Amino acid sequence: MDHEKITRYVTEPRLLGEIENADGRGAVGDPSCGDRIEIFIKVRDDHITDIRYLVKGCWGSLASAGQLCDLVMGKSIDDALYLDEDDIVNALGGLPEEKRHCTRLALGALHYAIRNFLLHHSGEKGEAFLDH
Ligand code: FES
Repeated sequence: MDHEKITRYVTEPRLLGEIENADGRGAVGDPSCGDRIEIFIKVRDDHITDIRYLVKGCWGSLASAGQLCDLVMGKSIDDALYLDEDDIVNALGGLPEEKRHCTRLALGALHYAIRNFLLHHSGEKGEAFLDH
């Protein structure tokens, strides 16, 4: 585990916040621990040009959401969808097993944000905001 990096995501969360008029947003909560992560994306030419997140939860959620956003910033939608749990955990230098679900929560929020964007821009009537 990269303690220095994780501490930075917890104490200096660079991308923490909302995007007004986001192109996509999605949130996922875990009823068993009460944590919740919400992700906002801006998309241009199928690339994620900006991403922010809100976290109500533990250090694992803060570190996972912060790392995920750093990995996804500037990527194409397709590449962002290929990102998996291990990519995030490895970039953090590992996470204890009991914090892996924090990473899955962050990934779930990203997937809902992308789905929200795709529904909005497909010309179909999609949900304005997905919150699970
Ligand atoms: Fe549940 Fe972190 S302890 S998401």
